[in-house]
Amino acid sequence: MIDINKAIESLNWNKEPKGLYEPIAYALASGGKRLRPTMTLIAAETILNGSLLNGNVIEDVLPAALALEVFHNFTLLHDDVMDKAPLRRGRETVHVRWNNNTAILSGDQMLIEAYKLLAQVPNDKVAGVLNLFNEMATGVCEGQQYDVDFEHMSQVSIDDYLMMIEKKTSVLLAYAMRIGGYIAGATPAQQEALYQYGLHIGLAFQIQDDILDVYGDPKTFGKQTGGDICSNKKTILLLTAMETADAESKAELLGWMMATDRDEEKINGVTEIYNRLGVREACETIMEEHTALALAQLDKLPQNSATESLRELAEKLATRKN
Ligand code: IPE
Ligand code: IPE
Ligand code: MG
Ligand code: MG
Ligand code: MG
Repeated sequence: MIDINKAIESLNWNKEPKGLYEPIAYALASGGKRLRPTMTLIAAETILNGSLLNGNVIEDVLPAALALEVFHNFTLLHDDVMDKAPLRRGRETVHVRWNNNTAILSGDQMLIEAYKLLAQVPNDKVAGVLNLFNEMATGVCEGQQYDVDFEHMSQVSIDDYLMMIEKKTSVLLAYAMRIGGYIAGATPAQQEALYQYGLHIGLAFQIQDDILDVYGDPKTFGKQTGGDICSNKKTILLLTAMETADAESKAELLGWMMATDRDEEKINGVTEIYNRLGVREACETIMEEHTALALAQLDKLPQNSATESLRELAEKLATRKN
């Protein structure tokens, strides 16, 4: 298996002007789970293992895997500006360490760098990969816009939420799988199974992210907690609470949503309502349903050690703490 961290380290950001490239190096060196490129590589392995195709095909997948990680980090630079987030991976976010303009422009350059990597995909696959990547990238932007729109809307359903997180988070994981499979020569049915696996992993992943935004330990989570509550994000926790609350708890929740200048109190107050209503457990159940749906897709794929890794990955993510 290719060492994705080494491959990321070997990207060269020692270029001028430093103000543009240093934040890129900073973001990409700060670690993270490297989930998306890992998924791309495992998806390709799943398709190839046991076949007579030569091992170079895995090498052919690497530029696309790297492009997905660079793209992901680009979205984080901009997302942290949009969410006013101070911390990521236990370090200051780019817009805090530098400023908003830096996060915007270095982020833009990262998107361009992602496309430069995509241009290295083998000639017979590059147009196909570009189309898949573009569908993904548009989905992420649409999802991010819904996420922002929903902050200011009072009537958001759980179905609206699932549509929004499918776009802002899941499509990236779904296309990470599909692109890996596509380059490795997966059949349309296999590509669809890989895509659906990534999609459901992604839904479970964002639900868990929402849970960790309230219940995570900032030291292991690497991000500040409570931000979603402060900005009235329509998370699965808030929507489940609104759906299950009695009149009194609902009025209390709506009261907190009007509060804009009492962050600490608001976080404690809303968390207390979540605890009282058992919201965390209800959300964990929804998350587990999506993990199970992801796992079910694996039966449609060749069975080998890479498929086993996908099984383990789904299970590991369901109990993640960061
Ligand atoms: C953060 O993604 C953005 C979300 C979709 C919640 P990750 O949790 O995969 O971030 P890193 O790359 O591991 O830091
Ligand atoms: C992640 O949503 C979606 C994207 C970055 C595109 P969040 O805003 O919940 O992600 P974190 O919690 O900041 O990582
Ligand atoms: Mg966000
Ligand atoms: Mg955010
Ligand atoms: Mg989050």
